[in-house]
Amino acid sequence: MQKGLFITFEGADGCGKTTQLNLLAQYLEQNGYDVIKTREPGAKGLGEKFREILLNYDGDVSDRCESFLFLADRAQHVDMIIKPAVEKGKIVLCDRHTDSTLAYQGYGRGLDLKQINMLNNIATDGLKPDMTFVFDVDIETSNKRVGKEKDRMESAGDDFFTKVRNGYLQIAKMEPNRIKVIDSTRSIDEVFEDVKMYIKNALK
Ligand SMILES: Nc1ncnc2c1ncn2[C@@H]1O[C@H](COP(=O)(O)OP(=O)(O)O)[C@@H](O)[C@H]1O
Ligand SMILES: [Mg+2]
Repeated sequence: MQKGLFITFEGADGCGKTTQLNLLAQYLEQNGYDVIKTREPGAKGLGEKFREILLNYDGDVSDRCESFLFLADRAQHVDMIIKPAVEKGKIVLCDRHTDSTLAYQGYGRGLDLKQINMLNNIATDGLKPDMTFVFDVDIETSNKRVGKEKDRMESAGDDFFTKVRNGYLQIAKMEPNRIKVIDSTRSIDEVFEDVKMYIKNALK
C-alpha cells in the first residue's frame, strides 16, 4: 500500500490555520483522497484533556511543565492517530505540531532550542511532517482576527507574538524544503491558491 502524507499547519493564532486546513481537506476529498483532520493540542480522546489544561487552566504553569504537557499530548497523538493513518495511506492534516513547540516554548519562552528539538524527536518517535505551512501574519492582523475572547496562549502579549513570529521564520529558513511560508495577510482565496500549488507539487 502507498504511504500517506503528513502535513502540518503552523503560525500565530488567527493566521488562518484552521480555515486553510478545512479548505484543503475539502479539496483533497473532492479529488478522491482519504483525509484525516486533527490538531495539537487536543486530538480526539486523551488529547482533549491536555487541551483543557493547556488552554484553559488559569493558575501558574511553569515553562518546562507547559513544554512537557504539549510533548505528552504529541506522543499520544503520533502513536494513536497520526502514524497509523499515514501507514494506511491517508493524508493527515494537523493543526499545529513540533514547530509550534519550537516557536512558542523555544523562541517565545526562551527554552533551549537544541533540547526542544531532542524532546520533539522523542515525542514523535522520529516522524517528520512531509510538508509544513507557516501562515505568516503581523500582529495587527492576528489581533483583528482572534477578537476579544483569547485563551491562555493567545493572551501572552505583543513581545511574545513577535518572538514567536520571528521564530517561525527562522525555522523555515533552516528547512526550506519542508516548510513553506505563506503571506497570510491576503484573502482566504489567495492564501489557498498557494496552498494548492504546494500540495499539487507534493502529490505529483
Ligand atoms: N486570509 C484571511 N483573511 C481574512 N480573514 C481570515 C483569513 N483567514 C482566516 N480568517 C478569519 O480569521 C479568523 C481566524 O482564522 P482561523 O482559521 O481560525 O485561524 P487559526 O486557526 O490560525 O487561529 C476566522 O474568523 C477566519 O474566518
Ligand atoms: Mg485554529
